[in-house]
Amino acid sequence: MLPIPFNRAAVTGREVEYVTRAIAEGPIHGDGPFTKACHEWLERLTGSPKALLTTSCTHALEMTALLLDLQPGDEVIVPPFTFVSTVNAVVLRGALPVFVDIRPDTLNIDETRIEAAITPRTRAILLVHYAGVACAIDAILDIAARHGLIVVEDNAHGLFGAYKGRPLGTFGSFATLSFHDTKNLSCGEGGALMINDPQYVERAEIIREKGTNRTRFYRGQVDKYTWCDIGSSYLPSDILAAYLLAQLESHAQIQSRRHAIWARYAASLAPWAEAAGVRLPVVPDGCDHPAHIFHLLMPSLEARTALLAHLRERRILAVFHYLPLHLSDMGRRLGGVEGQCPVTEDVSDRLVRLPLFFQLTDADQDRVIDAVRAWR
Ligand SMILES: Cc1ncc(COP(=O)(O)O)c(C=O)c1O
Repeated sequence: MLPIPFNRAAVTGREVEYVTRAIAEGPIHGDGPFTKACHEWLERLTGSPKALLTTSCTHALEMTALLLDLQPGDEVIVPPFTFVSTVNAVVLRGALPVFVDIRPDTLNIDETRIEAAITPRTRAILLVHYAGVACAIDAILDIAARHGLIVVEDNAHGLFGAYKGRPLGTFGSFATLSFHDTKNLSCGEGGALMINDPQYVERAEIIREKGTNRTRFYRGQVDKYTWCDIGSSYLPSDILAAYLLAQLESHAQIQSRRHAIWARYAASLAPWAEAAGVRLPVVPDGCDHPAHIFHLLMPSLEARTALLAHLRERRILAVFHYLPLHLSDMGRRLGGVEGQCPVTEDVSDRLVRLPLFFQLTDADQDRVIDAVRAWR
């Protein structure tokens, strides 16, 4: 019996052809023709006015922190149930992440707890749409407007997700995307910064190009480029963009397969889940999810440990997800204590993600479903 991995990056056929073309035709530095094509695709797919490919979502988040001019002493509201990069971007500027617990249903930041965490030093609310299921955006935008805060969407999971018909990543001043190989579309390592507020575009281009106006120079808008601001090298080679373009062009095929797998898990596991006291993903009305994650919330840590071992014995790799950031070594150094975010602490002990990837066959998915249903 062959092992079933948790994830395998989608490959749809034209990746090698485009990479070969990028190399043959050049240039292969950043912002070549394939990067421009990816920008157009991302702008068209999301409706965001400006896309900039980056070397990762982590780097897009770092660019966001630079664009916000976060300073030591500033505070940014974040959920503790997220990847470290969401929070590192804030800490790298010397600012303080203020953890607000998540909702037990969607596992997104609990909008009813945000206002109590706002202080005169709060600058922004950094959201994560877990599994690409939208946060309570209307309520959060309202809080942000009343307190003069900027909203940023870490949309690493949520490309193709929507809230009331509008794509995720178009609600905040900025949104970040990930094309890491665990994501629905990937180029191995990659990301994008989506800019919805046009006042930030010029500075974003400068920060991404080592603090220079080289992007304007390439467009013929200045006759030489020079050092204008702080910055770093956040743009990927056109070789990676070529790979990503093949994936963007095949997004309908990838998404359709992922949705079929997600829906099959949901339908096949519902009776078992009910009998075993397991909760399946909650997708509230008005949210279109992108079939990024299919998770189970087990009744206890012991049940989670037992299920993962049970699946491993059957050569199926299922995995848990984020550990509470406020209880990590770094989080504790920033003042995190047990009991601070009880929903996160509880959920992170009980969550299991099942294999979900483009190439997963029906037969392999049947093996996963049968194995899960054979537990208890
Ligand atoms: C919510 C979230 N933000 C950011 C990232 C970082 O993405 P990348 O690996 O593209 O830097 C991840 C990675 O999985 C993530 O889950």
